[in-house]
Amino acid sequence: MTTIQHGLSREIDTVRREALDHLDTLRSASDATLWEGAFLGPKGQVTSLLRGLGTLPAEERPIAGRAAQQLRDELAAAFAPLRDRLETEALGLRLASEAVDVSLPGRKPTIGAAHPISTMIDELVEIFALLGFQAVFGPEVETARYNFDLLNIPAEHPARDVWDTIHVQTDGEEIVLRTHTSPMQARTMERIQPPVRVIVPGVSFRFEAQDASHEWQFTQLEGLAVDRNITMADLKGTLQEMARQLFGPERRIRFRCDYFPFVEPGVEFAVDCAICKGRGCRVCKHTGWLEMGGAGMVHPHVLRGVGYDPDEVCGFAFGLGIDRLAMMKYGVDDLRAFANNDIRFLRDFARAIG
Ligand code: DAH
Repeated sequence: MTTIQHGLSREIDTVRREALDHLDTLRSASDATLWEGAFLGPKGQVTSLLRGLGTLPAEERPIAGRAAQQLRDELAAAFAPLRDRLETEALGLRLASEAVDVSLPGRKPTIGAAHPISTMIDELVEIFALLGFQAVFGPEVETARYNFDLLNIPAEHPARDVWDTIHVQTDGEEIVLRTHTSPMQARTMERIQPPVRVIVPGVSFRFEAQDASHEWQFTQLEGLAVDRNITMADLKGTLQEMARQLFGPERRIRFRCDYFPFVEPGVEFAVDCAICKGRGCRVCKHTGWLEMGGAGMVHPHVLRGVGYDPDEVCGFAFGLGIDRLAMMKYGVDDLRAFANNDIRFLRDFARAIG
């Protein structure tokens, strides 16, 4: 054996000892990866031993080569089962830490509830459907033509002042936030021929100071029926049926003269108080009646404005405040609660009406 070979075999022994000693200390999969890099990897000690063979004289290479190969095989054979065991252990640990405990109780999702005004609208739509009325919806940003002109409220008419209008545009075409749902009367009649029976639930807007019973944004329900031979009795019967469906079978309706430019004759209507049965209480302010809205027989000017012939057809119209109805029906005493979007109010309300 030459000195060089001798040196190499010593080096092989040193690497073997070092590698095997180290192998005993491996405790985890990442230890194993480090060990593999240090000894068997491309930059490992065994690999550099094998590379060093090239510097040996040709006749010595085979023996030295065999010894180095043998070392590599020996270390690889000792390492493989240990690495497998450590990797299996690591996998077991990971699976245990990521395990889902299917026996834990689930998280309860928060379920929303319908807004009281939506509930009221749904109820009204259902009641009027049974009376033959179809629900239609219109734009909240309106032209003055539909909001006023076609409702027999010309620009210079003093009645235009009754509505505290919020204007969107005053130059050129006058555009407003609709001050009532009545514009849909004209829009509907322009689109279809009699018989007409529609209701229009929707938000309306007025420039108004807010308090417990006034809001600048409120919800109305418009009603319109046009046909041959429609009378005030049809109007009264329709509103009475609505009141009975909402507040109980004994409810009565009261009409009193009022003025709205788009109806003639015009009335305001009230329902007798369901709480005190008309005797007088706090809710009806001791009058026995709860004001609901305005109504009347559609003015011939309105019919003519949309191309109907007032000698052939006639009709009734009504408009009521849905917020007011919801306050009565659900015992809410501040109108502002409906638009505030206070989640506590909405949650309590949803719980109350189940
Ligand atoms: N649009 C009226 C308002 O908001 C309410 C109203 C009165 C509607 C009489 C009607 C009606 O259809 O006939 O004050």
